[in-house]
Amino acid sequence: MSEKIIKTPLPDGGLGWSAVDEREIEAVTKVLKKPQTLFRYPGEGETRECPLFESELREKLNVKGALMVASGTSALTLCLSANGIGPGDEVIVPAYTYISTASAVTNAGAVPVIAEIDESLGLDPADVEKKITPYTKAVILVHMQGIPGRINSVRAVCKKHNIALIEDACQAIGSKYFGKYTGVDSDAFAWSLNFFKVIMCGEGGVFFANDEDIFLRGIYAHDPGSPMWKTGLSQGSKLAPYTQLGIRGNELCAAVARVQLSKLDAILGKTRSLKKKLLSCLDKPVNYILQHVDDPEGDCGFSVSLIVKDDKSAKGMAKLMGEQGLGIGSVYNEAGFPDRHIYKNWEAIIEKHSPTPAGYPWNDPSYHGNVGYSADMCPKSLDILSRCLRFTMNINMTESNMEQVAQVINYADKNL
Ligand SMILES: Cc1ncc(COP(=O)(O)O)c(C=O)c1O
Repeated sequence: MSEKIIKTPLPDGGLGWSAVDEREIEAVTKVLKKPQTLFRYPGEGETRECPLFESELREKLNVKGALMVASGTSALTLCLSANGIGPGDEVIVPAYTYISTASAVTNAGAVPVIAEIDESLGLDPADVEKKITPYTKAVILVHMQGIPGRINSVRAVCKKHNIALIEDACQAIGSKYFGKYTGVDSDAFAWSLNFFKVIMCGEGGVFFANDEDIFLRGIYAHDPGSPMWKTGLSQGSKLAPYTQLGIRGNELCAAVARVQLSKLDAILGKTRSLKKKLLSCLDKPVNYILQHVDDPEGDCGFSVSLIVKDDKSAKGMAKLMGEQGLGIGSVYNEAGFPDRHIYKNWEAIIEKHSPTPAGYPWNDPSYHGNVGYSADMCPKSLDILSRCLRFTMNINMTESNMEQVAQVINYADKNL
C-alpha cells in the first residue's frame, strides 16, 4: 500500500489549557501567598481577582453585567431564574448540546422542550417555532464547537412570540456575530471555563446580562448571603432578594481566568488562521457540504464539520480518511459511548428522572403542559449528526498540518 498522506500523528493539544504557562502559575501563587484574600468580596478599599476578571470582561465584551460563578451549568441556571423563568414554564433547547443546557432548565424548576437542529448544527428556527406552546418562556440557543448558531432567525421567532432568548456560549468563548461578541444582544448568556474550553481555569463559568435588574437577580441567586457582604455586588439594590444557589466565584480560578482572558485573542488568532488555511485547501466538495455558518468571520475557528450526503457515504469517507492517517468519525456514533451532547443519551431528561418521587419539574402542579420525550423524537437531528464528520483543531497544529488534513478530505471525497 502506498504511503499515508498524514505520516506522523497530528500534534496533540487543546485550546486554553495548552496555552497555560508560567503566567497562570504566578497568578495562582500570588493569590496563595496572601491566603487572607481568598474570598471574592474584597475588604473596603481593596480588590480581588473575581471583580477584576468581571470588569475586564465587561470592558472587552461591552456588556453591563458579568459574574464569575462555579460552572457553565450554574451560569445557565442563573440566566433562566434571573429572567423569572421557573416552575410552570417550558424552555426550548436544542437536540445537540451538552446535557447541562437541559439540566439548567430543570435546575431552575422549568421543563425542557427539545427542538431539532439544522445544517448550522444549532437550533432550527422553524422547529423552534413549532415547539412553542402557551407555556414557553425562553429559548436557549447553543453555539456548539465555537460556531454561533442562527441568532438572527431564532431571535426573530422569540420576538414574534414574546419569549426570552438565552445564549449558551459555553463552547464559543470569544465568538462574534456580525461584529459583536456572541450573546450581548440577548436576555442573558453564559460561558463555561471548564478544562475543555477556549479559555479555562479548570472549572468555572460566567453569567452575563445587560439589564440591571436581571443581572441583580442573578447576583442574588448565585449567593444567598450576597446582601450581607459590605462590598458585595447587590449593595444599594432596591430589588427584593431571593435565594437559589451557592456558586460564588473562586479567587484561584479567577486568577487563572484573567491570564487566560489576556490570551483569548492570540488563541483565536491561531485557530482562525488554521481554519482559514484548511478551508482554502479544500477542493469543491462532491459528497458533502460544509456546516452552515451565518457569519464566518465570528467563528472561533477550531472545528470544521462536513455534512456528508448520506450515512453510508459518511462511514465510507471516515474509513478512507482513517486509512490516510486522519481518525475522525461521525458526531453521532452509535457504536461509541453514549455521548451526552446528543439528546437521545440524556436519560435523566428523556426518562424524566427526578430527585424525589414527586417527579418535579414535570409533575409540578403549576406546570400545565404535557411535554413528552423519546429517543427518536428528533429524527432530523440524528440524521444530520450521523452524517456529520468533524475535525477539531488545537493550538499546537500548524498550517502544514491543515494542508495535509485538507488533502485527506479531498482524497476521501474523490475516492468514495
Ligand atoms: C454547550 C455547553 N453548555 C453547558 C456546559 C456546561 O458547562 P460546565 O461543564 O462548566 O458546567 C457545557 C460544558 O461542557 C457545554 O459544552
